[in-house]
Amino acid sequence: YEHRKKLYAINNEAKLFFFHNLLTNPIPKKYIVERGLKKELINKFMIGYATEKSQDLLNYMLKKGFKIEDLLELGLVKQSKRNNSLYDAYRNRLIFPIIDLRKNIIGFGGRTLVDDRAKYINSPESLVYHKSNNVYGVMNLRNVSKENKVILVEGYMDVISLSNYGIDYSVASLGTSLTIEQAKLISRYTKNVYICYDGDEAGINAAERALEIFRSINISPNIVKIPDGLDPDDYLKKYGRDSFNQLLENSLNPILYKYNNLINEYDLNDIDQKVIFLNKLTELLAEIESKLIRDEYINRFSDDLSLDRDNLQYEINKILNTKT
Ligand code: GTP
Ligand code: MN
Ligand code: MN
Ligand code: MN
Ligand code: MN
Repeated sequence: YEHRKKLYAINNEAKLFFFHNLLTNPIPKKYIVERGLKKELINKFMIGYATEKSQDLLNYMLKKGFKIEDLLELGLVKQSKRNNSLYDAYRNRLIFPIIDLRKNIIGFGGRTLVDDRAKYINSPESLVYHKSNNVYGVMNLRNVSKENKVILVEGYMDVISLSNYGIDYSVASLGTSLTIEQAKLISRYTKNVYICYDGDEAGINAAERALEIFRSINISPNIVKIPDGLDPDDYLKKYGRDSFNQLLENSLNPILYKYNNLINEYDLNDIDQKVIFLNKLTELLAEIESKLIRDEYINRFSDDLSLDRDNLQYEINKILNTKT
């Protein structure tokens, strides 16, 4: 317990150090302006800066009396395998402190400002940082409760950019795979979830995995589709807030989302493809637990596709009967 408190204290000191660096250095400030971010966001998200010097944080922390082994444990400092020399893990990077529900600083994300091959560096797993149990943007969770709505995004910059446009009820899953612990954490604040991952292929696949995670805890999220492979930050910058809100309004529930995917995937004028499509559609409908709701979709889809409603129902029943 004492050790844990010490690690929090170190992270907190590092946060202050990075924050001070940012305020006194033109490089990160220029970058923030270039990305169109308002100054207030620096305070809200406690954004910092790691300079290009290789032992900047290290020297500062040693002067403060902290031990090298603890800095290594937190991943703030690394040791060269070649000559055992110590160096700061984050250099030339914008720093995003990761905070937990008790407001402890548990880790950091660092975005390169010099096109380093690693776009982001994140804290390693440690006594105080468990990536899969935390989300980025806990400062927004109170607004999530108030709005009764959460926008789940992929990255630090998406959360910050949304805030920049006055949309302050988003959190990020950090990396692309949402965990069940993260989904449970979010669901304590609202059940009204908008999955809004990047519009590229990785993001689309991750959104579908996140959808299943939420389903497993009985939450039916809305899936927001961002066009042209953009992410929320890109989209807001290009089309503005009203257009983004329109995307939220056009988001689809899981059934309509999957239906839409099937429609787009298969050419219904080709009989072979239509056969596959109809099988998939039947499976999709058979997955709906509530008979009442299933019926609603059967009506809607058979109308939409000019299918015989009773035949569709008959095929769904065949699947349902083999299940029980
Ligand atoms: P910008 O390019 O600054 O707008 O960031 P982004 O959030 O759009 O980045 P991207 O869509 O590439 O990645 C989404 C999230 O995945 C990031 O916020 C990071 O949390 C994580 N991520 C991205 N690149 C890396 C990487 O190189 N290493 C690690 N560990 N995580 C990454
Ligand atoms: Mn862990
Ligand atoms: Mn991406
Ligand atoms: Mn992105
Ligand atoms: Mn981005």
